[in-house]
Amino acid sequence: MKANKRYALTLGMLALGMPGAHAGELTGNAEAGKTKVAMCIGCHGIPGYRTAYPEVYHAPKLGGQNVTYVEKSLKAYASGDRRFQTMHAIAASLSEQDIADVAAYYAAQTAGSKSSTLK
Ligand code: HEC
Repeated sequence: MKANKRYALTLGMLALGMPGAHAGELTGNAEAGKTKVAMCIGCHGIPGYRTAYPEVYHAPKLGGQNVTYVEKSLKAYASGDRRFQTMHAIAASLSEQDIADVAAYYAAQTAGSKSSTLK
């Protein structure tokens, strides 16, 4: 039933005129991901940041996370398998290519990365 849910989600995104999810293997591009994390930095880029709404939540650090883990988490938020209101809205607005790029970007970060302030 999971597949049906994804299919429905894709149709829903197309209906809303958002970039649709593409089938098949995608290769993440960390360079492209760099420009796509602009909307993530607000929560994930501030050390120890806690969201104020709907409750106080700690936004986890993404830099250096495993690429598959980031991808799976975003897809789980998008499909609703993992529940978190804000992340659901954000993940559902990303195309599969966006997810692959963003995951590649975060996975490429290390403590010594020049761009580590974006974690
Ligand atoms: C409004 C604040 C906010 C924004 C913006 C935001 N996030 Fe999140 N994100 C959170 C919070 C809070 C959590 C923890 C939710 C939970 O407990 O499941 C989270 C969880 C995650 C996780 C799971 C991490 C883990 O350790 O399990 C990933 C991956 C993630 N976000 C990626 C992103 C990406 C990529 C973007 C930008 C496209 C983004 N987030 C934008 C607040 C935000």
